[in-house]
Amino acid sequence: MSLISVAIDGPAGAGKSTIARKVAQELGCLYVDTGAIYRTVGLYALRKGADPKNEGEVVPLLEELKVEMQVESDGIQHMYLNGEDVTAQIREPEISRCASAVSALPPVRAFLLDMQRELARTRSVVMDGRDIGTVVLPDATVKIFLTASPEVRAMRRWKELREKGNTDTYEEVLRDVIQRDYDDSHRAIAPLRQAEDAVLADTSELDLEESIQLLLNIVKERQ
Ligand code: DC
Repeated sequence: MSLISVAIDGPAGAGKSTIARKVAQELGCLYVDTGAIYRTVGLYALRKGADPKNEGEVVPLLEELKVEMQVESDGIQHMYLNGEDVTAQIREPEISRCASAVSALPPVRAFLLDMQRELARTRSVVMDGRDIGTVVLPDATVKIFLTASPEVRAMRRWKELREKGNTDTYEEVLRDVIQRDYDDSHRAIAPLRQAEDAVLADTSELDLEESIQLLLNIVKERQ
């Protein structure tokens, strides 16, 4: 059987990881959440007291940093930072900001590019991120740009955070979503944008099940 690769890009909070994980399951592909890889680098920068925006402070850390990804028996993609399981730590809101900052540094992107490509070389994958269809897998079998309005994305994220006991207000979460959209799409290198040959999927009006079906239909039509 020939390998397939499904590239799913889009802004934070569009439901990418939940939807992409389910789509991967249905298709029997490996799911790769590339945001988790950037988050792991962000966590390391934070732990080391480096300014995540400062290339001079972050780049030397890459030499002592080993990032690994492993799907375990619980079906979850675990992230390892120098051998330590940091799967839970990288989900903290503080890490979102650090990940966004380090992801704007060209040497960080170069450092992680091969790792991401290698994952898709020998296996069928569903990979989600910001630049998968444009940079990481320009020859992906199917490219999807998954989005939803900032208000809908902020509401989803706010509910998620609230369930975890976080007390941020909806307005704060919305401000964060808008700021991160701006940062991710205005950075000089690999900005978030829809690849020319990507299909646009807007989930503002769809629930989770409908979103999964929409993506599966797109993949089946183009595969
Ligand atoms: O999807 P996420 O929120 O977990 O991603 C964390 C950060 O990593 C986000 O601010 C943008 C960055 N990122 C990126 O630049 N390129 C990717 N392929 C994936 C994530």
